[in-house]
Amino acid sequence: MNQQSNQAKKVLICQGRSCRKYGAERVLIAFRVNLVPGVEITPCGCLGQCGNGPMVLVEPEQIWYSEVLPDEVSLIVKQHLKQQRPVKEILYPKFHSDCTE
Ligand code: FES
Repeated sequence: MNQQSNQAKKVLICQGRSCRKYGAERVLIAFRVNLVPGVEITPCGCLGQCGNGPMVLVEPEQIWYSEVLPDEVSLIVKQHLKQQRPVKEILYPKFHSDCTE
């Protein structure tokens, strides 16, 4: 039998002090009102990238978004979580410099 590993997608939204200062709480709320079946929305502590927030990390593929605005969440949900196409314009350049040119 051909068994496929199907790891569940999870979105981590940093709620550390720095990211909250830039509106991470509103970003978390925006993800919660745009729920996608099978995708877990998880607030988390500091992701070690303070000053670039609100930071959002999509697992298991390890795609990072920085300076995410609540208004941009619906685009991440539609394009990345539903269509598997990360939103290049708001990827975190430190980890995705090859994708943002
Ligand atoms: S507080 Fe969000 S990365 Fe540190």
